Formats: sequence, C-alpha cells, structure tokens
Amino acid sequence: MTRWKARTLAAQALGTIDPTTRAVVPPLHMSTTFIRDPDNQYRSGYSYGRPDNATVRQTESLVAALENAHDAALFGSGMAAATAIVLALPQGAHIVASQVMYWAFRNWLAGDATRFGYRVTFADTTDLAAVRDAVGHDTALVYIETPGNPLWAISDIAAIAEIAQGTGATLAVDSTVATPILTQPLRLGADLVMHSATKYLNGHSDVIAGALAAARPSNLWEQIKSVRARHGAILGPFEAWLLQRGLRTLAMRVTTQSESATRIAEQLMMHPHIAGVLYPGLPHHPGHAIAARQMSRYGGMLSIRVKGGESCAIATAANIELWKRATSLGGVESLIEHRASVEGPDSPCPADLLRLSVGLEDPDDLLGDLDQALRAAHR
Ligand SMILES: Cc1ncc(COP(=O)(O)O)c(C=O)c1O
Repeated sequence: MTRWKARTLAAQALGTIDPTTRAVVPPLHMSTTFIRDPDNQYRSGYSYGRPDNATVRQTESLVAALENAHDAALFGSGMAAATAIVLALPQGAHIVASQVMYWAFRNWLAGDATRFGYRVTFADTTDLAAVRDAVGHDTALVYIETPGNPLWAISDIAAIAEIAQGTGATLAVDSTVATPILTQPLRLGADLVMHSATKYLNGHSDVIAGALAAARPSNLWEQIKSVRARHGAILGPFEAWLLQRGLRTLAMRVTTQSESATRIAEQLMMHPHIAGVLYPGLPHHPGHAIAARQMSRYGGMLSIRVKGGESCAIATAANIELWKRATSLGGVESLIEHRASVEGPDSPCPADLLRLSVGLEDPDDLLGDLDQALRAAHR
C-alpha cells in the first residue's frame, strides 16, 4: 500500500527511476531470453519471455497500485484475461455471470466454456435476489461487469461480494468502463478485477491488452498466472510499455470524459429525436443510486435510443461527421456504434440503440454533430 493517490501514482508511473541510466521514463526490455548463472540458477528472476518480462512487470506494478491489489497480471487482450480466470478453475466448476456484459465474453461463456465442461448460469446481477438464487454452494466464480455493456447496467459490487463470500465463491469484476479512477472493486470486497486495458487504461486506441488484479494471494491467482504462462497469453513488452505511457494520463482522461458524457447525456435527454438516454449518471437510470455509491463519477460511456427504430439509428450513425463510426471504447477520440449489428440475435441490446464512447473533444462539438446527424436521419 502506498500513501500516494491514484492520480499521482499514474502520472509518475510509480516514480521508478532506472537504476542503470537514472532515466525518468522506464526502459523497454525486449529480450526474450536471459543468461543463466554458471551454477545453473536464474538469479535475476527472469528466464524466458513467455512467463515473464521486466517491462510487463513494471506496468503490472502500476495497475496493482491503482487497484489497491496484492498483484496484477497483463494479458495479450481483455478476452485472454477474462478467459484465464475461467480456465484456472477446475473442470465442471459452476460460474454465475452477468446477463448484460461484453457480448464476446458472454458468447465464450455460453459456447466454449460450456463445451469445456464449465457450468454457466447467466443472471440479472442488477437484482440481488436473482444473484442469491443463482449462486449455490458449488459456485466457484461470480463474474460481473459493471457498468455493463451496452445498457450500462449497474451491479452492486459490495452486496454481491457478500453473497459470494457467503458460499466461498470468488467475485471477479470487469471494471473496464469504470477504471480504477472511478471505482475500486477490491476495496468493495471483490477478489479479482478485470480490465480490457485496450480501452481506458491505454486510452489511445493503439494497444490490445488485458489486465487482472488480485486482492490477495490465493491458489486461484497462482493458477491464473500459470494459465497465462502455459497458454502463452502474456502481453508483449512494447504493448506493455505503451500501456504504461497511456496510464500516466488515465485520471485526467477519465475525469474529462466523465464530465463530457454527463453533459452530453443531460442535453440529449431533451432531444426531440431521442427516445431514451442510458447513462448511470442520470437520476432515472435504474442503477443510479448504486452508481452514486460505488463510482466517484459516472464514466464516459452512454447509449441513446433513437426515435424511428433501427433504420433511424443506423442512419444517424451514417450521417455523423465528427464521431468515428467504429467499435471499441475508452480512447481519446469519440466513437459511435450501432451495437445490435455487432452483437447478433441473442443480445439484450435493443435495435434502436447507438453506443457512444465520449472522447476528449469539446463536448459542444460532439453535441452539435449528434444533433445534425439525428436531424438528417429524420428528414
Ligand atoms: C467491458 C469489456 N470487457 C472485455 C472486453 C474484451 O477486451 P479485448 O477486446 O481487449 O479482448 C471488451 C472489449 O470490447 C469490453 O468492452
């Protein structure tokens, strides 16, 4: 534990000075292999690049500090990080997972994980009674995403941690959208935090990466790191270095993006061509009260439901000029996406929904562009 606040830790990348050169910016270690001592030992702690790398470790230390974690591990993608948690469980283990979550991981749980012999129950994790019903004495893992894509469903981390603890299950939280700046799931009782570091942690849409952080040492955590080494899922050192650079501006980016998203959500509520705005910062959002407790701001992601249905939503995206019509989220540039086209028929995403990832542009420019695109789509 450190006495510095998250913003300070991130800005200085933990303030580590390279002992050889006294460089302020951490060096990039690209070597895949390391010298063995004459007596056959590896005293440096490094032997080969698949299990471990010094640049990856530096960035992991920063992620662990930001999450108040015992330890962190970086992966080649968010999917590699999330799947490692499941693959570290014994075969046949029971998993309870959020119904509303990143669609590709939901599909992986329903498809591959089930084929590999895991038993998966999807539950509405915004409803504590539904979580209690789904979690049994044989449940090994409760996996929630909050805010959950793309409806920004809010699950109560502290209350679900209590339910999981009651039966001895591990609680893992996909906190990609909240980031450690807005929510600290481990402080709220979660055991593991997961991030698609591709998103806000890196923040510049130029690295695919995943991160896990663990509250304490455990057999499961050792298994997760062993899965990473055995499956070859470690992040490359250059990506880890870029991720560390991105993390240095995390607090400033997330704060500005949250402020802009709040303003945009409030303004769009009054727009004549919008049927609904989904944003946990709005008082009518079903998760608002919980979000107010467990998030310091409401984040940079919102969704709008466009009057006129799917064709008008797609036409709005087609007429946009400033927002980029692209998937992903959490970068410095604002993105707009018709999610139902991506997620397919099993998704809880309505056909008239556009997902908005608010970047660092002037919010008035972003609002103006949305307004002209909505008007063009309804002409
Ligand atoms: C909330 C969330 N979790 C996990 C993932 C998967 O991460 P990645 O694309 O880095 O594999 C994503 C990607 O969009 C996401 O939005």
